[in-house]
Amino acid sequence: MTKALVTGCAGFIGSHLTQRLLRDGVTVIGIDGFIDNYDAAEKRRNLAEIGTHPGFAFHAAKLQEQRWKEWLDGVDVVYHLSALPGVRSSWGPAFSEYVSHNILATQALLEACLQLPRPPVIVASSSSSVYGTMQGKRTDEKAPLQPISPYGVTKHAMEQICQVYVKAFGLPVTMLRYFTVYGPRQRPDMAFHRFFTQMMNGEPVSVYGNGLQSRDFTFVSDAVEANVLAARRAQPGDVFNIGGDREIRLIDVLAIMGQLLNTTPRITYLAGQAGDSQRTCADIGFAESRLGYRPQVSLEEGLRLQWEHMRARSKN
Ligand code: UGA
Repeated sequence: MTKALVTGCAGFIGSHLTQRLLRDGVTVIGIDGFIDNYDAAEKRRNLAEIGTHPGFAFHAAKLQEQRWKEWLDGVDVVYHLSALPGVRSSWGPAFSEYVSHNILATQALLEACLQLPRPPVIVASSSSSVYGTMQGKRTDEKAPLQPISPYGVTKHAMEQICQVYVKAFGLPVTMLRYFTVYGPRQRPDMAFHRFFTQMMNGEPVSVYGNGLQSRDFTFVSDAVEANVLAARRAQPGDVFNIGGDREIRLIDVLAIMGQLLNTTPRITYLAGQAGDSQRTCADIGFAESRLGYRPQVSLEEGLRLQWEHMRARSKN
């Protein structure tokens, strides 16, 4: 019987991964410290949606508390999703918090994992953040890492500390570079969540820059599947791009959202944001060949699922 540790289990991707593992019959130790990057009530709702389950033990704690004996007892796979995310908010004094949550906490976790018989450790990295603005048609994992935000710098450093533990101790760490994940429970600071909320309230949507920036958006269940596949099939030190069905400009996403809600979104164009990448587009060839990863959910379907979830939550 597999026993997994999921850090950040009340967050967006972490809560979906926890649910998926429980459905697969995995016992889950979930940790979440309710980092105050957004309203803790949202994270509590995520936890409520996981529900009570005999195989699920939840610890409300920050990783910095380092209660490893309790958390890692009998664990044979570790999914590390806890982080301080968000590109645009990582400037200024917030940076020290980013360093603490994304680098120092990860290093402490890796060190603790050395006490176990080399469990697979699957770590959440990110894409636009570590690559910066992408050049060429698609970006593969060998592209130069040129972060353009302080957040990206912490994710880049986090990957490097992981590689150090792979090389020095053979810890089987895998890094997943997610490309802008969306879907039910998406973080409230992220674009789709904000746009749907604004449309629901009859407000104009707030677009940073000219709306021509593009992203390779990844539906959350595809990101979850990548975690499960990586735990089974990745080699120590592997890094994978985890992308979605295509690259699309923000204004074209808004047109799809408009069709979904049967309206034409009104747009307020705001100043472009420091640290924002102009485009991202994943070459997922390595994830396909090594893991058998293939995104299953189209943007149209994923947007519909996110919208339905947000509408249902707004009524509760
Ligand atoms: C997302 C995540 O928030 C990061 O944690 C992750 O590391 C990153 O993806 C990644 O792939 O590396 P981002 O691509 O900025 O970052 O995701 P969104 O917040 O959904 O923004 C997408 C685009 O919409 C950006 O160009 C952003 O400037 C824009 N946006 C966002 C708006 O125009 N208006 C808003 O109100 C919010």
